[in-house]
Amino acid sequence: MKHSPTLLMCPPEFFGIEYEINPWMNVEVAADHAVAEQQWNGLHEHLKSTGIAIERVEPVQGLPDLVFTANAGLVYENRVLVSRFRHPQRQGESPVFRAWFESFGFEVIEFAPADQGGGYDFEGAGDALFCGDTLFAGYRMRSDATCHQQIGALLGVRVIPVELVDARYYHLDTCFCPLAEDVAIWYPPAFDDYGRRAIEGTIGNLIEVEQAEAERFACNAVVVGQQVFTNTGCPKLHEELASRGYSPTATPLDEFVKAGGSAKCLTLRLDGEEAALW
Ligand code: ARG
Repeated sequence: MKHSPTLLMCPPEFFGIEYEINPWMNVEVAADHAVAEQQWNGLHEHLKSTGIAIERVEPVQGLPDLVFTANAGLVYENRVLVSRFRHPQRQGESPVFRAWFESFGFEVIEFAPADQGGGYDFEGAGDALFCGDTLFAGYRMRSDATCHQQIGALLGVRVIPVELVDARYYHLDTCFCPLAEDVAIWYPPAFDDYGRRAIEGTIGNLIEVEQAEAERFACNAVVVGQQVFTNTGCPKLHEELASRGYSPTATPLDEFVKAGGSAKCLTLRLDGEEAALW
């Protein structure tokens, strides 16, 4: 079964900054609930206007980061590898996402249990993105390097592990965004030398964002065909995208930046990313 273009989102009813698990989060800087609702609705409206279908996971009290559905799992055709979160604060999300995937008809696949050599941390599409037929997988901050071999074997795909070295860019989708088979946006300082070379050696067209725009989560873009949606404050990236024939749209997402997330983190593509060849 191949799904038609569909995103998964979770309304921010219980979103908030209740703990600190990345450098963007500060429990003293509360999210404004009404503004978060407006910003989430704004993104939802923009995405809806592309014609893509949007499914919802029901929000759950006590799981403030459930809005970041990119971390639900890694979808591949009709299978999904549900995330195993590194931080206990997010571990309660896995059964919620798992139940949702099952009810939607996905086949849930899992790593071997810890006592059989599995038990890896892995944070889903936040750390694993297809560009063409290659899966780029970020590790160190949230996902274990050791899980990649198993992902490759479980899904039968080529995996290129890339190490993330800057704590502010703790998920791969905060510093890397495939746009098409051989095209991606990236922020090179978030990777070590080896990772940079691996990306440069595999993807022919790389669009580099500068620090100020990386800090506005320029790389955390939702791509629907030629349309690209990001937080505000990324004018240079938008100019570059427009010159390459893309239609960029800025939509304010500052309340979610307080949690260390932006547009892409708030969505999960259920039918394969635009840049995936499956
Ligand atoms: N507060 C969340 C965390 O630290 C934000 C997750 C953002 N998601 C993403 N795919 N980058 O886990």
